[in-house]
Amino acid sequence: MAEEFITHSAEETTRWGREFAARLKAPVLVLLSGELGSGKTTLAKGIVSGLGAAAEEEVTSPTFTLVHVYGREAKVYHADLYRIESQADFETLGLEEVFAAPAVVILEWPERFAPRTEWPQVRLRLEHLGGDARRITVLSGE
Ligand SMILES: Nc1ncnc2c1ncn2[C@@H]1O[C@H](COP(=O)(O)OP(=O)(O)O)[C@@H](O)[C@H]1O
Ligand SMILES: [Mg+2]
Repeated sequence: MAEEFITHSAEETTRWGREFAARLKAPVLVLLSGELGSGKTTLAKGIVSGLGAAAEEEVTSPTFTLVHVYGREAKVYHADLYRIESQADFETLGLEEVFAAPAVVILEWPERFAPRTEWPQVRLRLEHLGGDARRITVLSGE
């Protein structure tokens, strides 16, 4: 059964992500679905900081840079697949190396392109509920 949570501010979503991070163990792929502005990057800030890989304010949207890497030994990757349309595009990200060693890989717009990996997945869906309210649904990993 899917778990659902409602948040009422960006801060609350970040806090939720920090707590959710305790449930993540590398190697794992975290897929963040949801429209523009639904809070994927805001949630990623919480996950990355909850994993102890970077401070919240260091986590910014990888929209233009495509992939950000945080952490020293335990790596956390955060990528945005919004502009990825083909295997060739995907390869330009250099994500193959990412999957060579256990890490936490957070992907925004995973429906744009599905990376080929056997890693366990956790799917989180974000939805606008009007104003600053958002629903976060944990669609159990498979
Ligand atoms: N409850 C909430 N959760 C997440 N973001 C919120 C919330 N309420 C308002 N916001 C605002 O919505 C925007 C979400 O942007 P962002 O996280 O970049 O979304 P996405 O990565 O999905 O495009 C931010 O400006 C954030 O401050
Ligand atoms: Mg984003």
